[in-house]
Amino acid sequence: ASIHDAFVAASKEFFGTATDQGLLQRDPNPAIIQANFGQVTHENSMKWESLEPNRGSYNWGPADEVVDWAIANGKLVRGHTLVWHSQLPQWVEGITDAEELREVIRNHVSTTVGRYAGRIHHWDVVNEILAEDGSLRDSVFSRVLGEEFVRIAFEVARETDPSAVLYINDYNLDQANYGKVNGMVSFVQKWVDEGVPIDGIGTQTHISPGMGAGVQAALEQLASAPVREVAITELDIADAPVEEYTAVVQACLNVEKCTAITVWGVGDADSWRQGDNPLLFDYNFNPKPAYDAIIDLL
Ligand code: XIL
Repeated sequence: ASIHDAFVAASKEFFGTATDQGLLQRDPNPAIIQANFGQVTHENSMKWESLEPNRGSYNWGPADEVVDWAIANGKLVRGHTLVWHSQLPQWVEGITDAEELREVIRNHVSTTVGRYAGRIHHWDVVNEILAEDGSLRDSVFSRVLGEEFVRIAFEVARETDPSAVLYINDYNLDQANYGKVNGMVSFVQKWVDEGVPIDGIGTQTHISPGMGAGVQAALEQLASAPVREVAITELDIADAPVEEYTAVVQACLNVEKCTAITVWGVGDADSWRQGDNPLLFDYNFNPKPAYDAIIDLL
């Protein structure tokens, strides 16, 4: 059985992977994804600099190809990501006028969510907006608009596709009581109280050996926020130790609100963490021990 099918049988929603247009054209990526995973996230082609490199002029080709492939193959798609300080085009970076930036965010979010309405069911609406101490991270968005950009992005996403599940996503949310985890829970609590339509918290989970054991407590703390669900959105673990991967999968199984896991790529040769070998398939696309261990666990 595929990891995804086994995960679904354990009452979870999906087990997916990051990929992208170029990777889907290189064997054996498509076959491995077809056989093992139930969801894909665009590794880069859905980011602002890829989609709207110049104001108002969109480059949909690569992102569309991934969505079309996913739907043709029965895979869900996680939309990654609408508002992020990184991989952001210079023309957005340079905006200093508040009303202009509000309008630019509204346009980017409504155009992108609207295009994929009914095809993309989960969105990372905002990505990496917190600093390590749990405060709002410095970015053009926070400098010009303060917290208001969060409300704008979520409200426009909700209006544009009321059926999409809207996430706030971040990294270093891997241990309970860490500053950024505390900040995430209290900001989400506050924003939801204020009516901001946040449905889920995504924890990227780019981790190293020794950290897997803390993931369940971190997920439980995130799940204590008033959101419908939490998800592990970009999992990779340096050296891919069996015990670390199984600890993370078991953590999601143990936390009721944890609905999904996405690993950040298929084979180590294509990982963004070159040299860490953090994925479930090796340089030759053979399944690694952690892959077998997850199948056994499920
Ligand atoms: C990474 C991609 O994997 C790389 O190919 C790219 O050069 C940089 O971005 N957090 C995120 C992801 O939310 O979008 C990042 O993806 C990894 C960290």
